[in-house]
Amino acid sequence: MIDSTTKNLPRHIAIVMDGNGRWAKKRGLPRAAGHKIGADSVEAVVNTCARLGIQALSLFAFSTENWNRPKDEVSFLMDLLVRFLRDKIKTLHKNNIRFQMIGDRCGLNDLILAEVCAAEELTKNNSGLAMNIAINYSGRWDIANAAKNIAVQAAANLLKPEEICADKFREFTCLANLPDPDLLIRTSGEYRISNFMLWQLAYTELYFTTVTWPDFREKELEQAILEYTKRERRFGMISEQLAAQAK
Ligand code: FPP
Repeated sequence: MIDSTTKNLPRHIAIVMDGNGRWAKKRGLPRAAGHKIGADSVEAVVNTCARLGIQALSLFAFSTENWNRPKDEVSFLMDLLVRFLRDKIKTLHKNNIRFQMIGDRCGLNDLILAEVCAAEELTKNNSGLAMNIAINYSGRWDIANAAKNIAVQAAANLLKPEEICADKFREFTCLANLPDPDLLIRTSGEYRISNFMLWQLAYTELYFTTVTWPDFREKELEQAILEYTKRERRFGMISEQLAAQAK
């Protein structure tokens, strides 16, 4: 179990929540049932991260590519997001959680946009867990969008090409106000990044589990975090250098 003596907790956890459909199929239920129970797992991991004092949690809820799913599944997922925000935002706010959406707002309908904006506005001054939900998001979109905004600034003479470096580029990506994820979790036994936070995951520790998302709760999250605490992160250096730095 994780307690106040546990060292090296991740500051930022990112999760690819996968396996809702398979969870439902195994039980003879429609895919929507898996998404619905998956929303309960979202609540569980948010509460666990807040309790553990984790700085940020980023959840991949709907990718740019998910628009290609059957129409009724897309509508169900959008409704679920709206309902989640409506039902839970007051509690999230009471728990000092700051909500933020990442992704392309252009493709979203007015209903979800209104709910997202209201949730962001209500919680913007909170200082606890930063809860980021990726909707209509892809890592390549984030990078291309940053490049576009840099080009706009350069064209307006607000930025010189020679000033563009990795640190400057980062300022234009989503979540530039937070540390990059320390830990990426993917559930359901799939071993892919699937276009999530491509820029931000450069040095992130990866954790894969066969547990499907609707079954991923507090115990499974703590297990992932504990495994992370044992990893040695070298950031391109060697162990001896890290030991010298720690002295
Ligand atoms: C992947 O499982 C899951 C999704 C594409 C949707 C994620 C949405 C939720 C967890 C519920 C709502 C979220 C919030 C933030 C309230 P899949 O459908 O691809 O599963 P499969 O690979 O087994 O088919």
